[in-house]
Amino acid sequence: DMGGHDTYMHKEIHEQADAVDRVLRGRIDDRFSTVHLGGLNLDAREARQIRRVKILGCGTSYHAGMIGAQMIEELARIPADAEPASEFRYRNAVVDPDTLYIAVSQSGETYDVLAAVQELKRKGARVLGVVNVVGSAIAREADGGIYVHAGPEVCVVSTKCFTNTTVAFALLALHLGRTRDLSVRDGKRIIEGLRKLPAQIAEMLEQEEEIKKLAQEYAEAHSMLFIGRVRGYPVAREASLKLKEVSYIHAEAYPASELKHGPLALIEPALPTVAIVPDDDLLEKNRAAMEEIKARSGKILAVAHQHQEKADQTIVVPKNEDELDPILMGIPLQLLAYHTALALGRDIDKPRNLAKSVTVE
Ligand code: F6R
Repeated sequence: DMGGHDTYMHKEIHEQADAVDRVLRGRIDDRFSTVHLGGLNLDAREARQIRRVKILGCGTSYHAGMIGAQMIEELARIPADAEPASEFRYRNAVVDPDTLYIAVSQSGETYDVLAAVQELKRKGARVLGVVNVVGSAIAREADGGIYVHAGPEVCVVSTKCFTNTTVAFALLALHLGRTRDLSVRDGKRIIEGLRKLPAQIAEMLEQEEEIKKLAQEYAEAHSMLFIGRVRGYPVAREASLKLKEVSYIHAEAYPASELKHGPLALIEPALPTVAIVPDDDLLEKNRAAMEEIKARSGKILAVAHQHQEKADQTIVVPKNEDELDPILMGIPLQLLAYHTALALGRDIDKPRNLAKSVTVE
């Protein structure tokens, strides 16, 4: 049942305010400015002994994991990074007892992720799952974890589950942070930010008509570049994946900081750039990158918290706490991918060559 929407992708994009409400529900503890995560199976002493966090997932779940790693580093001050599970399982990685491993998966059935979890467990590592489908293989195999409660996701490409997974990581980062050295004041600040998310998502979705017009323009492009730095970079990666999956337009994501090391050679009027420009301490750096692109007659669409003069167009996203900004910045880019694919007449819910869960090697 598409509930009045023409595609599941559209329906699922519009379900995100409710979905985020669900992942937050019952978990916030105002008394200690932290969150309760019942299924984590990680007591405070264990949480304080973690020396590193390694997050593993594929595709969109890997991108959500990249955002999660940054949140954990920022809020809990634990070194953290994300890696495609599909690479990790083939490289005889050093498995370290002080590292917390986290497997991310919407379906909970992706074979590359499951195989990585099984290999880690075989070597005695502690593995948590950040999973959507309750009781799925990865959820069962993990030592504990967080259900992201996005609800059933039918469209092959992931939208609401991506958003909910990033929120689940914010909860985990806050929990680990408050078990370690994050102050009460910062805990409160993040909780306030989390509580604002559902209304801000609804506000964001109200801009659909304008984004649709932009998409009709960009549908003519043969290739697009997505750039961002630090918090904006995983958002650029995910936006680029979403666009190529549903519209079949070639897209590439690059850290804005790497432009001058090569990709600037590609810039010309026929290669539009989408720049992720959060209003954080890297704003000026991002403006400078846009200037470099403009100087080479490149067209720019900015996704930012305020109108960007260097860009040809700006999609303005509601501002949250810096650490939580990536959560909202992905949403207009889901709409951009959706409307680009619609303008091109693509089979949005079932893109060619793709399957909802990849249960083979
Ligand atoms: C992206 C997409 C894929 C999946 C990937 C992992 O829109 O659908 O990239 O994200 O195959 O799937 P899960 O999260 O089920 O492990």
